[in-house]
Amino acid sequence: MIIEKFSMKFYKEIIELWRKTGISVGSTDTKEELKRMVERNPHLFLIGKRDEKVIGVVMGGFDGRRGYVHHLAVDPNYQKKGYGKMIMDELMKRFRKMRVHKVHLFIEKYNKEVVKFYQNLGWDIRDDLIMMSYVPDKTLYKMSI
Ligand SMILES: CC(C)(COP(=O)(O)OP(=O)(O)OC[C@H]1O[C@@H](n2cnc3c(N)ncnc32)[C@H](O)[C@@H]1OP(=O)(O)O)[C@@H](O)C(=O)NCCC(=O)NCCS
Repeated sequence: MIIEKFSMKFYKEIIELWRKTGISVGSTDTKEELKRMVERNPHLFLIGKRDEKVIGVVMGGFDGRRGYVHHLAVDPNYQKKGYGKMIMDELMKRFRKMRVHKVHLFIEKYNKEVVKFYQNLGWDIRDDLIMMSYVPDKTLYKMSI
């Protein structure tokens, strides 16, 4: 698998990949929103390709303090071959190079089995935190793609 920076020409392919892998595709995954994401994080939004086909994707983000990992996915036909680890290793290498102190990610409760995957890569579960969210604009949030 060859890892490269995401570019908007792969938009359709990654949306398909996320849908195929059960990732919730929502209002922040429109073309405009992903363009904003890649412009802010050009070196952290990565895809993995085999034979010119996108088989892996991860969106890394840095807010100036913490790093974040969103929407990691590997095509079901290519899972359990080390590609998920490979793309995460590359992303963590890039965070390390940027001297980011800590990186967070969120796992939906229905998807508990993926915890083991991340633990394998050295991630720890946080049980000292409560996650809260606020929606500043409910019309924006309801937008679908
Ligand atoms: C999570 C995901 C990206 C893993 O990708 P992958 O390419 O199959 O993972 P790898 O082959 O690199 O696995 C690396 C290690 O984790 C283990 N692993 C992979 N998926 C696992 C799972 N669901 N549960 C437990 N262990 C798992 C592998 O066995 C391997 O262990 P090893 O190094 O001891 O052999 C992939 O399963 C996926 O796309 N899932 C659906 C989308 C998703 O849930 N994304 C995460 C959102 S938070």
